[in-house]
Formats: sequence, structure tokens, C-alpha cells
Amino acid sequence: MTRYRLQVNGRMVEVEADPAMPLLFVLRDRLGLRGAKYGCGAGLCGACTVHVDGRAERSCLLPVDGLVGREIRTIESLDQTHPVVAAWIREGVAQCGYCQPGLVMAVTAAIEEHGARGVDAVMDSLTNICRCGTAPAVRRAVASLVAARLPSRLA
Ligand code: FES
Repeated sequence: MTRYRLQVNGRMVEVEADPAMPLLFVLRDRLGLRGAKYGCGAGLCGACTVHVDGRAERSCLLPVDGLVGREIRTIESLDQTHPVVAAWIREGVAQCGYCQPGLVMAVTAAIEEHGARGVDAVMDSLTNICRCGTAPAVRRAVASLVAARLPSRLA
């Protein structure tokens, strides 16, 4: 076990973890932040998506040892007034909800990176998988966010 000081959702936290422990398990099992979900554990589904230094990352693939000094943000840092969360509620995107925290974090980063190029650019950049088939509702939410021309930094 190694003791780490990490920056999570704007504050410094200390955790003891094996250096190879994925960030997803540090968040869920050490810090009690259970928004990011375990889906595939292989970087494929995106249920575990969080932000690291403002970019969407699969937290199931990131060993904690490489995250010292990085800015980690999870779905818990976004409240219901956040533009993406508000759009999700307005458009009724979530169905079972399991993958939605990861999807919201992915869309937040995608709007920042691709929003100026339009809805298709944002949608084409998403690789998260939703078994409920929420893609049409996701597209409506993304379209409303792109139309609103949000500030470039959402997280
Ligand atoms: Fe991380 Fe599926 S659980 S990508």
C-alpha cells in the first residue's frame, strides 16, 4: 500500500492504495464517490468516465500511481444547475441511469472540445455505450447545449 494525495473535485484527499489500483476503485471504494460505474473494466463502455485535467478518461484504465498532481473531476462535482445536467433533466435522457454519470462527463468534455463545430462533431466524438438506447435523447440534449453556445469551460 502507498499513501497518495490526490486532487478530486477541487479538494485534496488522501488515500492508501496499491499503485496499480485503477482510479475507478479509488473513487468508489476509498473515497465513497460512487457516481462513476464499473461496466466492462476494459476501457470499452465508458460507464467509468471522469475528467482528468479537463479531458474525459476511462477511470477503469488509470492506475492511481499516475494521478498525483492531476486534476480529477467526477459527476459528483456537477449539481443540477450545471448546463449539461440541466439539459439531461430537461430532455429526460436517463432510462436505467447506470451509464449516465459517465455519459454526462463525456458529453461535458465533448461540448468543450467540439461544441463550436456543431452537434454532429460532438456526437461523433462520443464512444460511451448505453444499452437503453438513449442516443436520440442524448442528441436532443447536445443540440440544446450547442445552440446555447456555452462557455468553453464547463467542468
Ligand atoms: Fe471503464 Fe467500461 S468500465 S470503460
